[in-house]
Amino acid sequence: MKTSFSLKYRPQKFSEIAGQEHIKNILINALKKGRVANAYLFAGPRGTGKTSTARILAKALNCLNPQGIEPCNKCIICNEISNSSSLDVIEIDGASNRGIEEIRGLREKLRYKPVKGKYRIYIIDEVHMLTNEAFNALLKVLEEPPSHVIFIFATTHPQNIPLTILSRCQRFDFRPILSKEIIGRLKDIVKKEQIKIEDKAIKLIAEASKGALRDAEMRLEQVSSFSDKKISIEDVEEMIGLVPEKEFETYLNLILSSNYDNFIRFMDNLLFSGFDILFFYYSLLDYIFETYLKKENTNNIRDILYMLIDAEHIIKDSFKPHIAFSIVSFRIMNKFKTSSLTPSLKTQKNTSTKQKEDSKQTKIHEPKKAPPKKKKTIENILKKSNIYEDEKSVIIHSDMAQILNKNIPYLKEKYKKEIIIKKEENETGNKKTESNPKIENLIKGIEKYLQAKEINE
Ligand SMILES: Nc1ncnc2c1ncn2[C@@H]1O[C@H](COP(=O)(O)OP(=O)(O)OP(=O)(O)O)[C@@H](O)[C@H]1O
Ligand SMILES: [Mg+2]
Ligand SMILES: [Zn+2]
Repeated sequence: MKTSFSLKYRPQKFSEIAGQEHIKNILINALKKGRVANAYLFAGPRGTGKTSTARILAKALNCLNPQGIEPCNKCIICNEISNSSSLDVIEIDGASNRGIEEIRGLREKLRYKPVKGKYRIYIIDEVHMLTNEAFNALLKVLEEPPSHVIFIFATTHPQNIPLTILSRCQRFDFRPILSKEIIGRLKDIVKKEQIKIEDKAIKLIAEASKGALRDAEMRLEQVSSFSDKKISIEDVEEMIGLVPEKEFETYLNLILSSNYDNFIRFMDNLLFSGFDILFFYYSLLDYIFETYLKKENTNNIRDILYMLIDAEHIIKDSFKPHIAFSIVSFRIMNKFKTSSLTPSLKTQKNTSTKQKEDSKQTKIHEPKKAPPKKKKTIENILKKSNIYEDEKSVIIHSDMAQILNKNIPYLKEKYKKEIIIKKEENETGNKKTESNPKIENLIKGIEKYLQAKEINE
């Protein structure tokens, strides 16, 4: 069977680990001085080298013929650890061995001396998945571990591990691997595997992998199996499913218009098209920043960006990120729900005609009628208003519409466009928006959920 790139190029010694210098240095020094801890915690994002480092450390500790502090990777012990057949180095998947029984079983075996090496080393992956009872059982072991036993815990969710356990481990935080480092690794593989690929395409793979080297290697492997022709940046774009810009535009329009039903359909389509929702979320942040904030100051778009970034922990730490993302989006929509206007983002050619038909709309004012008002007050009001701009006009939604109405000349001078002021209604007073009781209830539930989550954090 063909070995995947990510296994084939798994680092086998400290010097082969990409990045993570802060971790390598401390471990190497400790090994040189023979100062070994009883328990290590390797925390950090997926695909950044936690399991690889755990195995290298295990080999370095048990190797029969170490080269300095590096494992030889030739002796029987190194070989057994590399192919996971060592009786002294036991890898346990915390996600599928979560219960107290498993940890009790483990405890009973701890007193046995190692078979071939110096230490019995337990590598528990995804350790945050253990149940509370299992953690309690583990704690007893960590309080008085036999001297020949070493634990290495690995996790992507250190925040879910009890403090009592954390305080008994030497903790190492793995960092996302820098793009330039990933590019270097990919170039090595490209050379060894004789893959023809544009430099730009390598760069795109590296950037899209957001610091996870394993993801980058998997993507390179996937795209190189497409064809024997030189791989272009377009091939990579197609393969990694870069989100077309129109999807972001649709998303923003749905949010601004509080179109719940269509939003649910939009999310279904997005998932159906195979987009990774976290990838969509991060690309959306980049898109909003690049397309809007760098170019123009649009209050409501800025608000959307703030609210999306605020909710990052909710989305990225969720086991079901698509639900978390939808919930957060509903919450943002709820903010815009009070607006009876349905603004589109880039150009809204018919805005002024549409607005004239709206009975609630204040008519377009002439500058000469307006008495001046203090600049600072107006700026403060503007900060709290929702402002929609198109090529010709600026529509300002504010609960201080009266004051703004008196200051149209200032606003005209500021925006150099036609000014339309709309009185913002507060949420309870707004009966105009079509309300759907089911959705209202859903939103109330969501708000409660989010508040509870925020309080807990
Ligand atoms: N720092 C790194 N240096 C070199 N290769 C790496 C590194 N991180 C990841 N890789 C590559 O990715 C593969 C997976 O790495 P590893 O299993 O160590 O990641 P992990 O952090 O344990 O990920 P997960 O959280 O998903 O278990 C390795 O086999 C290797 O090819
Ligand atoms: Mg791992
Ligand atoms: Zn060895």
